[in-house]
Amino acid sequence: MTATLTPTDLPRAILELKRLRRAVILAHNYQVPEIQDLADYVGDSLGLSYRARDTDADVILFCGVHFMAETAKIVNPSKTVLLPDLDAGCSLSDSCPADKLDAFLRAHADRNYYVIAYINCSAGVKALSDVICTSSNAERIVRAAPADRNILFVPDENLGSWVIERTGRKMDLWRGNCYVHVEFTRASIQRAKDGHPDAAVVAHPECPYAVRLLADEVCSTERMVSFCREHPARSFIVVTESGMLHRLRKEIPGKVFIPGPTEHCACADCRYMKRNTIEKVHDALRDLRPEIVLDEALRIRAERPILRMLELSR
Ligand code: 13P
Ligand code: SF4
Repeated sequence: MTATLTPTDLPRAILELKRLRRAVILAHNYQVPEIQDLADYVGDSLGLSYRARDTDADVILFCGVHFMAETAKIVNPSKTVLLPDLDAGCSLSDSCPADKLDAFLRAHADRNYYVIAYINCSAGVKALSDVICTSSNAERIVRAAPADRNILFVPDENLGSWVIERTGRKMDLWRGNCYVHVEFTRASIQRAKDGHPDAAVVAHPECPYAVRLLADEVCSTERMVSFCREHPARSFIVVTESGMLHRLRKEIPGKVFIPGPTEHCACADCRYMKRNTIEKVHDALRDLRPEIVLDEALRIRAERPILRMLELSR
């Protein structure tokens, strides 16, 4: 508990604990503003994976969801990796359990699949895959896949179909999706465009096809920052999780950022990303838990396709 600390004391106490623990704080673009403001690095899944692999800190406090912290442990196993709330999961990762993927691959052994897994999956799914991708390198990874193999893309059918559109490469798609991004609809985004006719639209590739069609740019959360900075428009409709708005407003103060609305809400929050709070960040550094622990044999099998991705992405 952090009962004795006021909200203004907390950031200072966290920075002191960070120094004592020789920790680095890595945060995803969807984290709450207070966490982003404390972090040593804020970024997308790919940038965070590189930072996790390359850090010389003793402790990685990973402010994101479970598969992201698990990836950090896979690529840098000698570190203590902490996740402020172990229940920070991901609906997309949950949509492809490792045992179901294993059964599918056995039942379709005649297809001799080359499995490309979006990083939003468990270590068990990574261990069954040939290569991992993120939203920022998916096109490049699919283009690098062996031409004579059938590809199975897991777990996101929306990202998968976006990559098929861009590369022309045939792939079989696992029927998974992100519960946040499928809440955006053609009608909800068209209404936002009608209300802001001069705004450009940026959308994450986890959005459905009908929403992606309305976007000026479909890209990873990191690319959203450079796209909005470089684009001549003064305002942008941002069709992804609401945490993204903080980073855009902070780094590009001269422009206006409008959250993409869903049918039911003015913006979209990921309930998993939002499980992490600044109080839990403090307690995790103080207590050195919750910690990500992985079976070593599984870790080694899951590391191989991630390293392949990191090599292909440089
Ligand atoms: P990015 O890698 O683009 O940040 O996406 C991660 C994610 O979970 C999107 O929902
Ligand atoms: Fe998973 Fe969707 Fe949340 Fe990203 S926004 S962590 S894909 S549930």
